[in-house]
Amino acid sequence: MIVTIDGPAGAGKSTVARALAKRLGFRFLDTGAMYRAVTLAGMRRKVDWERPDELAELARQAKIDLVGDRVLLDGEDVTEAIRSQEVTLRSCHAAGNPRVRERLVELQRAVAGGTNIVTEGRDQGTVVFPDARCKVFLTASPKERAARRLGDLEAQGEAATLAEVLDAQQRRDRRDSSRSVGPLAKAPDAVELCTDGMTVDQVVDRLVSLVRKRQ
Ligand code: DC
Repeated sequence: MIVTIDGPAGAGKSTVARALAKRLGFRFLDTGAMYRAVTLAGMRRKVDWERPDELAELARQAKIDLVGDRVLLDGEDVTEAIRSQEVTLRSCHAAGNPRVRERLVELQRAVAGGTNIVTEGRDQGTVVFPDARCKVFLTASPKERAARRLGDLEAQGEAATLAEVLDAQQRRDRRDSSRSVGPLAKAPDAVELCTDGMTVDQVVDRLVSLVRKRQ
């Protein structure tokens, strides 16, 4: 069974999807980590960001493995490196590149094939797994999302203000929702859940009961 969780950055998707997978005994696929890994590969190889073919070629060659909680790029553990602010800012190049998306969608389908999995991203219920049995669209208000993101950055020792984070988030939302390939969108058959004021456990409880009804 495939459970898709899509939604904007900061809605709590990763934490919730990971916890949900654990509770259900399902595997977990963080597709954002794949876009981040391609972005990091591009930064390291100093690709020309104005030339999408360079990044697409890199995505074709790169070996991206998600092993448990770790992300490997050509065998190197880049779990922490892909969470930097620079990768976050640059990831729009990978996300907006049709050939990169094609490659990563292929990889995501290969990983999920025939297993019980919770997969998290922007296009999982719409493009990658349109036939998934259970689809969730997770949201939160812009302010709450920015506050969570700020907390994450602080935990990583990166300095930022709430205003900066809100501004960057707004730009990213606009770009995520308006790109021509794999835009952030709610699948018509997805259940939308706003997580404002809810704890992770409360969200996970709701989703567990939703999944059980569809099993
Ligand atoms: O969820 P995240 O912040 O780790 O995602 C990193 C980037 O990848 C972000 O720019 C959105 C993009 N992304 C995407 O386009 N499609 C996905 N399925 C997952 C992430």
